[in-house]
Amino acid sequence: MVQMGNRLLIIGATGFIGRFVTESSLATGHTTYVLVRSGTVSPSKVKTIRALQDKGAIILHGSLNDRPFMERILRDVQIDVVISAVGGSSILEQLALVDAIKAVGTVKRFLPSEFGHDVDRADPVEPGLTMYNEKRRVRRYVEAAGIPYTHICCNSIAAWPYHDNTHPADVLPPLDRFHIYGDGSIKAYFVAGTDIGKFTMKAIDDSRTLNKRVHFRPSCNFLNINELASLWEKKLGKTLPRVTVTEDDLITAAEENCIPQSIVASFTHDIFIKGCQVNFSLDGPSDIEVSSLYPDIPFRTVDECFNDYIGELQEQPAEEMNAPNSMVEMLAITATCG
Ligand SMILES: NC(=O)c1ccc[n+]([C@@H]2O[C@H](COP(=O)([O-])OP(=O)(O)OC[C@H]3O[C@@H](n4cnc5c(N)ncnc54)[C@H](OP(=O)(O)O)[C@@H]3O)[C@@H](O)[C@H]2O)c1
Repeated sequence: MVQMGNRLLIIGATGFIGRFVTESSLATGHTTYVLVRSGTVSPSKVKTIRALQDKGAIILHGSLNDRPFMERILRDVQIDVVISAVGGSSILEQLALVDAIKAVGTVKRFLPSEFGHDVDRADPVEPGLTMYNEKRRVRRYVEAAGIPYTHICCNSIAAWPYHDNTHPADVLPPLDRFHIYGDGSIKAYFVAGTDIGKFTMKAIDDSRTLNKRVHFRPSCNFLNINELASLWEKKLGKTLPRVTVTEDDLITAAEENCIPQSIVASFTHDIFIKGCQVNFSLDGPSDIEVSSLYPDIPFRTVDECFNDYIGELQEQPAEEMNAPNSMVEMLAITATCG
């Protein structure tokens, strides 16, 4: 079993999911090493790195696909647990990391960059399928290498599930109209980023999660998109128009192959049209549900997360509130379309 005081290496700590995991590792008291790529770093990343350092993170500079470097780090720093939270475009770079972990032979647990659906069960259309095929390839590579692993299948982030935004928790839920996918009746599980970090930390320290897929299915946050819209309306104190986004609309957005928005459209289709989070039961030998492991530890509710957004909204100047999509536009990620 991994004990407190053991050494964690987190790759992707400056990213959306990685930051939650790193903050939680530091709060839990683990010695936390963070791998940061050299090269041009944006001011916001510099700020993130400084904030993590202030909380005790130890920064290492390098890239996970540099196998000799990774071997040296894992050996010299005597890393016990490696957590990768690299983004969609870097999934296959983890193969070199797996080789390094195998060669060193002392890592007690590896968590590859999953943090979403069970990719062996979910079946999105392209271009999401390509990413899932890459994640599946990493799974098979880890299994073949005989490395102790845990896959975190945490489902959706607790936020409004925009179909064109990879980091929806970074923006407010809609202020002008809702996009409702299909008839809005397919349910999904929503998990706060802080809980993704918190339960990931529990999982690395638990023999029951060894070589398992840890599914996050909090019953308190099992909602369809109409219910999500009603909850947000209650917080706003007003109703908003609901515009239907059909299955065909999502397929068309996916087929445009604008990266990363089309990937999000394909996942949105898989979740809210095909029901990829709910169309299987957790009865496989590798499945374990996180609430059954830690029944006394509560999840933050979507209701609480929406209260945070109301707090943010109240702090915004009036003109920004009158331009409801400005945050979305500001944070829109540059797309490449093929
Ligand atoms: N459940 C959900 O709702 C949800 C939402 C989003 C993502 N995800 C999943 O979570 C995982 C992480 O995605 P994300 O969106 O959080 O990623 P992200 O924000 O794009 O961040 C990726 C991180 O990985 C680092 N990185 C990339 N390549 C690297 C390399 N070769 N060496 C070292 N560091 C490297 C990046 O560093 P730089 O700063 O140098 O770029 C960055 O810190 C993915 O598997 C994704 O599918 C799940």
